[in-house]
Amino acid sequence: MKTLLINIKELLQVRDIAPNKVSGAEMKELPTLKNAWLLVENDIIKDFGTMDVLTETEVHKTIDCTGKIVLPTWCDSHTHIVYAGNREQEFVDRINGLSYQEIADNGGGILNSAKKLQQTSEADLFTQSAARLKEVMKLGTGAIEIKSGYGLTTEAELKMLRVAKKLGETFPVKVKTTFLGAHAVPSEFKNDKQGYMDHICNDMLPKVAEENLTDYVDIFCEKGYFTVEDTHQLLSEAKKYGLIPKTHVNQFNAIGGVKASVDHQALSVDHLEVITDEDISVLKNSETMPVALPSCSYFLSIPYTPGRKIIDAGLPLALATDYNPGSTPSGNMNFVVATACIKMKLTPEEAINAATINGAYAMGISETHGSITKGKSASVIITKEIPSYGYLPYAFGSNLIDMVIVAGEVL
Ligand code: NIG
Ligand code: FE
Repeated sequence: MKTLLINIKELLQVRDIAPNKVSGAEMKELPTLKNAWLLVENDIIKDFGTMDVLTETEVHKTIDCTGKIVLPTWCDSHTHIVYAGNREQEFVDRINGLSYQEIADNGGGILNSAKKLQQTSEADLFTQSAARLKEVMKLGTGAIEIKSGYGLTTEAELKMLRVAKKLGETFPVKVKTTFLGAHAVPSEFKNDKQGYMDHICNDMLPKVAEENLTDYVDIFCEKGYFTVEDTHQLLSEAKKYGLIPKTHVNQFNAIGGVKASVDHQALSVDHLEVITDEDISVLKNSETMPVALPSCSYFLSIPYTPGRKIIDAGLPLALATDYNPGSTPSGNMNFVVATACIKMKLTPEEAINAATINGAYAMGISETHGSITKGKSASVIITKEIPSYGYLPYAFGSNLIDMVIVAGEVL
């Protein structure tokens, strides 16, 4: 099956040889082709070029993209889309003056979601999560990482990861999974965090690994949740199963989670709303991708990750949604890209690089996703007719997507 996109006003993120990530000043460069065509064969990008040198004519389907921009689908490297129910009451509580942390201290927050999830069947959890996945695919997401962490019992964590894995088998979108048993200390272990850490390491982790349910391991390294010592314990143990870390660090406090994660060769460190100069120098000597989650900052009214500072220090940066019921009930990568420009002072080129090639790196799929490169997954966004790609973050409230193709499948 061959599909040909013709008369593309501008084809973005065109890389003959794709780098696995772009850093610092390189992030300002977004290679493009004007008046272009793109040939898709089955689920793969077969070829592309400019209209004056178009030779291929025998195809099954032609899509005229006059006036439209085509770019790789978003790579959302940090989500928690497998969850049960919602937490809109906590949203109202915050409007009325309670803080995110006060709500958590009163048994709300992650523990509230865990209670709901434990009572939800695997089939129902799949249905609820599939609806969110379909929604974000229509918003241009072609690859997504999904974390556990609302189970907090062996059984419920396995249930979450099975659902996440099944989502990847059911839909064309690329799914990577992450085991986040260390998301919060469940009430059964209220006064015995070490007991819970040992339970994660000795009971949960072996089962998760045995069922081959996870690609990565994560921990919420934060005051009131898990310490740097807990992080070392979990990540050392995870290494025995060949699991690479992607961690939640520096959301509210810089307690050393960046260094601990880098010490264990983390693929990414995510949140970083609070980041020290020492954290930045630690990252400079690493292959770890810093990931910013601006929708979370927006929703919780907490500081934005200093993305400008991170890029100006020569580091790479990726952007993701953090889609979850508590801190970010939105999986809209278009909003993330716009918010990174508006609030973090990224240029449109930097934001698009951060949400495509660098997002792909942060979920270990740069070889197949994140750029328009021959042989990569045929996953692209076709915009509506728009004046330029800068219009995407500029017109932040409009849906500017005309069509999404994920792994060759037109949605
Ligand atoms: O990434 N920070 C930790 N975990 C999630 C939110 C969890 C929740 O409130 O349900 C996050 O923001
Ligand atoms: Fe998160």
